[in-house]
Formats: sequence, structure tokens, C-alpha cells
Amino acid sequence: MNMYHNPVMIKEVLEEMNPQPGENFVDCTLGNAGHTIEILRRTKPDGRILGFELDIKASGEAKERLKEGGLLSRVEIIEDNFRNIKKYKNKLPKIDGILADLGLRSGQIEESGKGFSFNADEPLDMRFGLQGTSAEEIVNTYTMDELSHIFSEYGEEKNYQHIAKEIVKARKNKPIKTTSELAEIILDFYRQKLKTKKEIPWIGGIHPATRIFQAFRIEVNDELGALKKLLEDGSEILSSGGRIGIISYHSLEDRIVKRFYRTSPQLVIKTKKPIISSEEEVKKNRRARSAKFRVAIKE
Ligand SMILES: C[S@@+](CC[C@H](N)C(=O)[O-])C[C@H]1O[C@@H](n2cnc3c(N)ncnc32)[C@H](O)[C@@H]1O
Repeated sequence: MNMYHNPVMIKEVLEEMNPQPGENFVDCTLGNAGHTIEILRRTKPDGRILGFELDIKASGEAKERLKEGGLLSRVEIIEDNFRNIKKYKNKLPKIDGILADLGLRSGQIEESGKGFSFNADEPLDMRFGLQGTSAEEIVNTYTMDELSHIFSEYGEEKNYQHIAKEIVKARKNKPIKTTSELAEIILDFYRQKLKTKKEIPWIGGIHPATRIFQAFRIEVNDELGALKKLLEDGSEILSSGGRIGIISYHSLEDRIVKRFYRTSPQLVIKTKKPIISSEEEVKKNRRARSAKFRVAIKE
């Protein structure tokens, strides 16, 4: 059984990013090296990859996998945030492609123990790496306005003020420390609002805590800030004719990519519309259903 994350839209990524023998790429989100391995197959014999990964479990697994495949000598793994891409630009003589497959890998949500999922009872951490402010700190220290702001902006949650108010009320009794405690506050708010006793008052097939958990994750990891920095610095260090491709999983990210490509004087848009996963892929991999892939070429 394949225990690794299936690389999303691999056929489309190879088609659009078009790796050629001897070309060098940056894989900003190495994960289990799914995309990296396929790119390396096409950049034989000496194309190199710089692979960024914040999660040391993922980078360890990627290393093993690359070693088994005899590919490790052509990869340098960087355990840093891809927002710092510019710092490492001299590690490659030229950069022909930059790929980012945003978010989390399958398994990371359920198995990391970092509190990404409301389905497991875990400490509220949510940091991709080891540094920065945890979700626990944010949920217990942000003002009601600050919480409202992230729920509205990053969660696109309609009831952002009410939920922020419930959180502030709850933490006065005792600090909120776990995913279950946070999820319960949100569920309770929705139970009252919808006048139901259902354990999970599903909203249009979505768990009511989904948007709030997304908002915390984005805030904890400054995901949108990191993406903007990657686009700015990545397009600067990319060689002429180089391709930049981003796979995003929600509208906030996709909007940033779309706007950046449109307004950058250095880039020409290659994908007029975002590429989405085939029905066949979505059937096999639910994560692929929300993926959007946009590519631009440096002039
Ligand atoms: C969707 S997965 C990538 C999967 C990979 N393409 C594959 O085929 O195995 C995203 C990965 O990027 C990492 N990640 C997310 N944001 C990051 C960032 N700002 N800097 C470095 N790594 C990041 C996550 O830890 C996760 O392992």
C-alpha cells in the first residue's frame, strides 16, 4: 500500500511546469517528495531541486524516499519556511521552476498531534514547524476584535463576532487548551443558534468548526503573508523563461496568486483559468477537489 501523500495534479504539474533535462527547480512544499520525484525523473541526469519543508517528520520521510530511489544526491532539503526562498537563491546556479503545493499533506492533519483537526483531542498548537506563536496562545490572548478579524478574514465565517464573543466568555473560566475544547465552544454556539440538540449541527455538509480552525491555522503560520513573500521573491529570483506554479486549496490563496500574476510586470500568465483536478483524481483523492493550479512564466 502506498502510505505517502499522492501528489495532486501530477500530470498537469508536469505538463505546465515542463521540466527538461538538466533544469533546476525549487519545490517549496516538499512534503513526501511526490512532485519532487517526478520532476527529478524529467530533469535527469543532473537537474537539481531545492526542497523546502517545515515539518521535520515530512522532510525525514522525504529524505528516506529519495535515498531509496537513488535521487537524494540531486536534492537539497531546506528545513525553513519557503518565505525565505531568496536567502537560498545561490544554492542553484539558475532556477527554471518554482512549485508550491500549499497547505498540509494528507495524514499531517490527522496524525501530526498538532491540533489541526477538530476530530482528534489534541493540544492547540497548529504550527507547521517548531517556531512561532501557537493557536493556544492566540485563542487565549487575542482581543475579541482580533479574533473576530481573523475569523472573518481567514475563515470567511459569517458569525465571526458571536463566536469570538463565546471564546472570550469561555476562556474567562479556564484557558482553552485543546482542539475539543475549542470545537465544543463553536458547536455549542451553533446548537443554540439553530435550536438543535444534535451533537454536530452540520452546516451544508460542513462541520461548523471547519472555518474557525482554518482561520487559526492561517494566522498561526501567517500562511497568506508567506505566500505573498514567496510570489514576490520567487518571481524575482526565477531565471528568464522559468515557470512559477502554485497549487492552492482555498479562495483566499487563489485570489492572491491570481492578482499577483495579473499585476506582476515580470510574469506572463500561462494558465488563463486555474487548472482543476480531473473527476477521476477527485474520486481517488478528496483533497484534490478544492485544488486550483495557476502557472506563470518569467519574461
Ligand atoms: C500539500 S503538502 C505537499 C505535498 C508534496 N507536494 C508531495 O507530493 O508530497 C504541503 C507541505 O508543505 C509544508 N509547508 C506548508 N507551508 C510551508 C512553508 N511556509 N514553508 C515550508 N513548508 C511548508 C507542509 O508541512 C506540508 O508538508
